[in-house]
Amino acid sequence: MALLEIRKYPDEVLKKRAAEIIDLDGHIQKLIDDMIETMYSAKGVGLAAPQVGVSQRLIVVDTSLREKDNSLIVLINPQIIAQEGEILSEEGCLSLPGFITRLKRSEKVLVKGIDRVGKEVLIEADGLLGRALQHEIDHLDGLLLIDRISPLKRELFRKKYQKIKK
Ligand code: NI
Repeated sequence: MALLEIRKYPDEVLKKRAAEIIDLDGHIQKLIDDMIETMYSAKGVGLAAPQVGVSQRLIVVDTSLREKDNSLIVLINPQIIAQEGEILSEEGCLSLPGFITRLKRSEKVLVKGIDRVGKEVLIEADGLLGRALQHEIDHLDGLLLIDRISPLKRELFRKKYQKIKK
């Protein structure tokens, strides 16, 4: 296993729509292991393949440190097939270090995908897991937290970010 470099805003790969995965071959299996290791090392609760520079539809999520009943989830070609309610909560992203914002998400989601051996899985989630799944699936569609906030907040973010870069 190997630690991968986490791509940060404004890396172009984060803005692209990621491609469906067709073959669960050795490359994908290694990528899954490396992403899991990278997520734990960065103390994140989730990671999407575009965040390590691979534009393919794969996410890993583990909220078990904060939600005891959950464990590691590997999802390939995940899709939100139903959602319900609305909840406002704080969110951050490994690709936007130091940035935390309040954001509205669905309270509960039903997510469909396949696991690393190709078995279909259906996950009903709320709480942190529900939020993490929505966040990581956004990454596969080229969306970051800053694409979900108001234009005014986004402008403030950009100004702050320009300052940090200098
Ligand atoms: Ni993120």
